Amino acid sequence: MDDVDGIRRLTQQLVQYRGKIFNEERFIFGLRKRTKPNSRHHFFVCTQNGEIVGMTLAELIPSCKTEAYLNTLFVDKAHQRQGVGRKMFNFIMDYLRDLGIETVFINIHKNQPMEETFFEKFGFKVDFELKPFTCMVKHLT
Ligand SMILES: CC(C)(COP(=O)(O)OP(=O)(O)OC[C@H]1O[C@@H](n2cnc3c(N)ncnc32)[C@H](O)[C@@H]1OP(=O)(O)O)[C@@H](O)C(=O)NCCC(=O)NCCS
Repeated sequence: MDDVDGIRRLTQQLVQYRGKIFNEERFIFGLRKRTKPNSRHHFFVCTQNGEIVGMTLAELIPSCKTEAYLNTLFVDKAHQRQGVGRKMFNFIMDYLRDLGIETVFINIHKNQPMEETFFEKFGFKVDFELKPFTCMVKHLT
């Protein structure tokens, strides 16, 4: 919770990027849920000189011990294109592999085609389309 202000700042950017409206109550509810001990949510922030510059969140899928869903990979606007996304991506994939995860899923909204390009570059492949989402998958083994 020490990082709450930085996480709020990035969440405000992320919500705007997704064309939605930031809601403080929803933010606090979501943060509590995702930072509970023994939660299936694994949430990390990336800092540079003490400032939060990125965050990533993976969720383990309860019905299958070897599958996870990558919910968020987001870099502060002012720090994009400086290698932060690549570092966080490699970190979260290694972390999930160490937990025994073999398959990672993501859902990309059709209004965000850049994300599909980014994740393809990092080894994700289109699994199926469930409009308006493209579901992508990466096998870690
Ligand atoms: C996508 C995102 C996570 C990438 O992080 P980043 O720190 O900016 O990316 P990096 O500097 O680590 O770049 C890694 C590679 O991603 C690709 N990339 C990054 N931003 C890109 C962009 N705007 N357009 C195309 N490719 C891009 C590049 O190919 C780059 O490889 P290179 O170094 O060989 O050029 C970040 O820009 C971001 O948060 N964007 C907004 C939200 C988003 O799209 N999130 C993804 C899912 S929530």
